[in-house]
Amino acid sequence: MAILKIAHLGHPVLLQRAEAVADPTAPEMRRLVADMVETLQDIGGLGLAAPQVHVSLRLFIWRTAVGGHSALFNPEIAPLGQETEEAWEGCLSIPGLRGAVQRPARIAFRGQDIAGTWIEGEAAGMAARVMQHEHDHLEGILYPMRMADLSRFGFNEELARFNPPKPVENERQTP
Ligand code: NI
Repeated sequence: MAILKIAHLGHPVLLQRAEAVADPTAPEMRRLVADMVETLQDIGGLGLAAPQVHVSLRLFIWRTAVGGHSALFNPEIAPLGQETEEAWEGCLSIPGLRGAVQRPARIAFRGQDIAGTWIEGEAAGMAARVMQHEHDHLEGILYPMRMADLSRFGFNEELARFNPPKPVENERQTP
């Protein structure tokens, strides 16, 4: 296992549309997921997409509510209903900053697990937000590109000093 280097804003891999994974059960995919989990645990984050570790493949992982990690290969996401929610998001590829992003409140998702089995489900709240944020990485989209109001974008320390946000965040846990 290894801790992987995170690609930061400005690296072209973050703007590419990632390629489908032909075989999620391949040994190199198992190794990649293990390394991504170790990387996310080391940083203390909630989600990580493969392009963020310089691998342009359709795969992301996230920390589950019970503290484990799940991986989804070749994910597809669709909004459920019209309701949207705004929450503050951060991104391991944009360290130190956060911004308020409006997203669909509920989603349906499908994708392949580490065994290659197609799974599907629905998500709401934090899980829906993390999955949408990570799926965006596979499309070359970063959260500031989703922001309608860039006045609600800034450094964590300054926002915490002047406008304490709700403790809802993606990827990066605030100290
Ligand atoms: Ni991110």
